[in-house]
Amino acid sequence: MAFTTFFYMLLILSTTYVSARCPEFSGSFIIQQDDLYPESAAWDPTTCRLYLSSMYNSTLAIYNPYTKSVDIANLPGISHPGTATYTEYHLDGVDYDAKSGYVYVAASSASAFTSILKEEDGTLATDYSNANYTGPNHVVVFDPHTQRVVADVDTSAAQREYHRITGHLTNAFQDMAEIQSTGDSYAIATFGNSIVKISSGSYDARLWYAPSHYNKTYGFGGIVSIGDKLVISDAISGGLVTFDTQHDHKPHPTYVPLQNLPSDYRPGNADGLYLPQKYGGKVLLWSDDYNGTSVYGSDDGWTSAHFLGLILNDDPKIEGGLTTDSFDIGDSIFILTQEFAFTLPAPKKHNFIFFDITAEVDEVVKGSFVDRE
Ligand SMILES: *[C@@H]1O[C@H](CO)[C@@H](O)[C@H](O)[C@H]1NC(C)=O
Ligand SMILES: *[C@@H]1O[C@H](CO)[C@@H](O)[C@H](O)[C@H]1NC(C)=O
Ligand SMILES: *[C@@H]1O[C@H](CO)[C@@H](O)[C@H](O)[C@H]1NC(C)=O
Ligand SMILES: *[C@@H]1O[C@H](CO)[C@@H](O)[C@H](O)[C@H]1NC(C)=O
Repeated sequence: MAFTTFFYMLLILSTTYVSARCPEFSGSFIIQQDDLYPESAAWDPTTCRLYLSSMYNSTLAIYNPYTKSVDIANLPGISHPGTATYTEYHLDGVDYDAKSGYVYVAASSASAFTSILKEEDGTLATDYSNANYTGPNHVVVFDPHTQRVVADVDTSAAQREYHRITGHLTNAFQDMAEIQSTGDSYAIATFGNSIVKISSGSYDARLWYAPSHYNKTYGFGGIVSIGDKLVISDAISGGLVTFDTQHDHKPHPTYVPLQNLPSDYRPGNADGLYLPQKYGGKVLLWSDDYNGTSVYGSDDGWTSAHFLGLILNDDPKIEGGLTTDSFDIGDSIFILTQEFAFTLPAPKKHNFIFFDITAEVDEVVKGSFVDRE
């Protein structure tokens, strides 16, 4: 090809690349939106918008950080905007899947969480004599470009299969992760530690994994994928559990203990896990409801995991919120906090704060074995 043609192709490629990047965004910020109560968030780098799950309304909020505007998407059959004292669902995990360009959202049965009670000192305790693990759960696939629901996946059949196999109930599918090579999504249930596989394209949901020993307490909390591997936080074993989705004949859990934990810290119930892009999968953030965000490093693809530090929830502006998720926008890393309401409707609230923790994460990673690679 002629040199000039080649030159113009390069120019087109580079301008496409440049225009495909979102403008930089950093610094702590506030979203002003009635009853946002965000449980999880994910950034879509193609529409340059932040997608947030509004827990009690079960709506999907779409935030433009450059104009500070919010659009609300109602998910048919799931969203419950209004002053309801009872919501059937809690909207929890949100993922942006780079392969399909879709946003995945977990809608779990609100009743499953009634076993979690607030103690007088403000901590959350569990009373499983209250547990109701019978309600419906969905994973909703949303197209951010058309702002339409592409698929509404019901996990009921997979839950019945779990019951048939184990004789027990599983519920609270509150997070999922997508495998980039296949496009399949894997959703975790916090109670019963099950995994449902949602096949790419057909959105067929099947029970993929049921543990051999049933434990009805809070287990799997957050899930991420790296290559063909799933990495899950497990409050029952107190560490990570990984699965190889492509090479194991039968799903096989590998328990990964958290090494170098300080004597005064064990991560609590995770509500979210995140691998910030800037660290190339070597740094994992565990949103530990109470204490903040614990940071782990791995230089062997999460065959082993080492504690690197804890970023405390010590800002008074958190106002009693618990850290339930982290996300990134370009090179900046943020956390969100959720206030769990034990009687609905939740108090009217308009301002929701998001903290930029980039500098704290960088500080914890700097000089660690991950940084020295
Ligand atoms: C939640 O519902 C209330 C009442 O309809 C509404 O005012 C508010 O904007 C909604 N917020 C979200 C994030 O859906
Ligand atoms: C359990 O939850 C389901 C679904 O939310 C609800 O229909 C049912 O009434 C609940 N059962 C009890 C005993 O509260
Ligand atoms: C369930 O897990 C918790 C937390 O690890 C543990 O204390 C409890 O003994 C387990 N229960 C059963 C029945 O294995
Ligand atoms: C974690 O939070 C608990 C409960 O608030 C507190 O007692 C404990 O000291 C905290 N641990 C650290 C390491 O900050």
